[in-house]
Amino acid sequence: MKRALFAIAWLTVGCLRAPASESGQDEAVSRAPPAGTVPRERALERERPAPAITLALLEKGRHRYDSVCATCHGLTGEADTLAAQGFTRRPVPPLHEPKLKEKSDDRVFEVITLGSGAMPAFPEIPADERWAVVGYVRALQLSQRARLEDAPPEMQARLKAEAGR
Ligand code: HEC
Repeated sequence: MKRALFAIAWLTVGCLRAPASESGQDEAVSRAPPAGTVPRERALERERPAPAITLALLEKGRHRYDSVCATCHGLTGEADTLAAQGFTRRPVPPLHEPKLKEKSDDRVFEVITLGSGAMPAFPEIPADERWAVVGYVRALQLSQRARLEDAPPEMQARLKAEAGR
């Protein structure tokens, strides 16, 4: 698992960028904040861009994902959980849907921070760990249905050798 995670980290570091924000269109964004609080979306701007994703941060992301997100989205992101069965009107989407893979890192960060539709918000998770979760979601997305060509060349040779054993 360590080795697999390292390969994934390698792929993920190249993928995690801080692109221009997609504007959040969910209701949570336009709701007025309670008096005396800093609107979450303003705090959100201070939490960008994403920190550099290291293997250590990715491990933290996995821990948070497994203990928080997996309840609904499943350990592998397939949304095959008991909790997911309760969301009939707004189903829990598998994280491997093309539509979700196309979402920017900023948008996934926003969804975790502000919630989205039927999904609750998790602002209590520290910002760097929310980014770590974004990194781990990307790693999960890369880990499922991946092709050999997706791995770096030197890793491909190793994977081929291991598969042939
Ligand atoms: C209590 C169940 C639950 C938990 C826990 C949960 N989600 Fe979700 N998630 C949902 C549901 C339901 C939706 C669909 C929301 C909708 O369409 O109304 C969703 C949607 C999403 C989306 C797509 C949303 C969009 O608008 O683009 C992403 C990305 C996502 N979840 C990631 C996560 C991550 C990462 C975590 C952990 C921090 C997490 N979810 C935890 C239930 C959950």
